[in-house]
Amino acid sequence: MIIAPSLLAANFGQLAKETGRASRSGAQWLHLDIMDGHFVPNISFGPQVVKTLRPLSKLFFDVHLMCSKPEILLQPFAQAGADQIIIHVELGEAVASLIWKIRALGKKVGLAVNPPTSIALIQPYLAQIDLVLVMTVNPGFGGQSFIHECLPKIQQASEWRREKNLRYRVEVDGGINNETIAECAGAGADTFVAGTALFNQRNMRAAVARMQKIADAHDPGLADLKI
Ligand code: DX5
Ligand code: ZN
Repeated sequence: MIIAPSLLAANFGQLAKETGRASRSGAQWLHLDIMDGHFVPNISFGPQVVKTLRPLSKLFFDVHLMCSKPEILLQPFAQAGADQIIIHVELGEAVASLIWKIRALGKKVGLAVNPPTSIALIQPYLAQIDLVLVMTVNPGFGGQSFIHECLPKIQQASEWRREKNLRYRVEVDGGINNETIAECAGAGADTFVAGTALFNQRNMRAAVARMQKIADAHDPGLADLKI
């Protein structure tokens, strides 16, 4: 089970310090939310920020592109130090070539699905990706409430993994706290993004340890995964 603090909830005036805090928290990944003001109604930060933070941390950089034209951003984020690049299945026809391009850059590939979008759209790509990201809030902002109606999608992604004998991770993002992480782990998720619930804590290390313990306790034991 992997915990991924989301930098979107950090103090933006102190991103280097906040990255250090996440790096010492015991979490394995750092989730980096990239918003373009078009795919979602908010703007976050770009490749230059990721490049600046890269030497400060050994964490796996999980870059979540909430962007209408990811094709122009793949190389900049790959060069900036992303370990994995997640694109959205809502981009439709562009998805197949985007997956191929991310692979060609030597990075892991994730495919995200928004709450109103059917998980069935992900199915054709399952053999080509490293991670399915089930959004559990409508993307754009941190601090929103978990949408429980998304839980069956986590179950479905985890069921397909077992049926097809695939090894992608199932990540959840949005409204994850000590209660909702248990529900998601029970449904088959193995990777948990948490922004507000971690960065708002004075002691992030203790908060990560607590989440990790809860997630592990609810692990249905389905995952035997690559990172
Ligand atoms: C939402 C982002 C999330 C966000 C989660 O658009 O994709 O990664 O940071 O924040 P919390 O954990 O506060 O819901
Ligand atoms: Zn995200």
